[in-house]
Amino acid sequence: MADQQNPATAKDGLDRNPDKFLSRSVYDLISLKGRTIVITGGGRGLGLAFGFAVAEVGGNVAIIDLLDEPHHHFQKLETEFGVKVKLYKSDVTNHAGLQVTFDEIVKDFGRIDGLITAAGICPDEPFMKRAPESVARCMNINVLGTYYAAQLAAAQMAKQEPTDFNPRGGSIVLIASIAAHVASKGQTTSDYCASKGAVLSLAKALGVELAAFGIRVNSISPGYMLTDMTIDLCDRYPWLADIMTNEPPMRRIGDRTDLKVPVVYLLSDASAYHTSDDILITGGIHAGRLL
Ligand SMILES: NC(=O)c1ccc[n+]([C@@H]2O[C@H](COP(=O)([O-])OP(=O)(O)OC[C@H]3O[C@@H](n4cnc5c(N)ncnc54)[C@H](O)[C@@H]3O)[C@@H](O)[C@H]2O)c1
Repeated sequence: MADQQNPATAKDGLDRNPDKFLSRSVYDLISLKGRTIVITGGGRGLGLAFGFAVAEVGGNVAIIDLLDEPHHHFQKLETEFGVKVKLYKSDVTNHAGLQVTFDEIVKDFGRIDGLITAAGICPDEPFMKRAPESVARCMNINVLGTYYAAQLAAAQMAKQEPTDFNPRGGSIVLIASIAAHVASKGQTTSDYCASKGAVLSLAKALGVELAAFGIRVNSISPGYMLTDMTIDLCDRYPWLADIMTNEPPMRRIGDRTDLKVPVVYLLSDASAYHTSDDILITGGIHAGRLL
């Protein structure tokens, strides 16, 4: 269309259609209708909240988790949104097993349009005491598990036929952490911090390498977020409750609600020109801490 209006477009590749931005509303852009999003670690915690975010804007959800039983909220996700939701028990560190799981997902859902990698662990023990097996476990889950899932999802995205709801490629959102940027106060999490630094770098590298396939890759670095796990942690170590509430300049712990729209933004066409980036959602602690 633009080429017909202005022959110069064909020569220099510049799309000179100044009316293009009028064609899609914000509501169209954030819709995930028809798309299938895979979420690792979605059996509970942040990953499960991302499942709700996806379903609320019309996306189908395939969750991969080690848990035998997901959090009881999973049942609500399964029944309340009129989208397809399925849980697959699989270990992200087992490449062969994960390949089988991705094959099952493609068989069940027909395609993969997005991936969120939320499977992760956070050991808390002084650096001097960390045992090699325990460090390796953290790296395997947080780094290799993320790498394998991204690779398997990208392989599927790259070979899919275009559809009316997704002309090409897909979007990958890696869950990093504020710990990739600054050390955590009141916690000793050396291998966790290193693993999340790796996740951050992976998103940058993959965003560049996979752009040719129409696949965008970004990370989100959450600060302290309220989940069943953080509630339990704060019950056991009361000083952490104080830190998580009072250290962020915004003087509160994050709620998973704070991550729902950013995740939808990154998965959807709303972020079609956004890749190789990290979005920090921390209540401000990446810039400075109170207390
Ligand atoms: N909660 C926070 O405050 C916070 C802040 C920043 C980043 N994060 C990151 O967000 C992600 C999710 O954290 P969360 O708080 O929801 O933790 P969580 O423990 O509640 O959830 C993690 C999920 O990952 C699953 N999992 C663990 N190892 C797995 C494996 N090998 N294969 C498949 N699934 C596996 C667990 O079964 C669990 O359901 C993690 O990567 C974490 O580092 C969390």
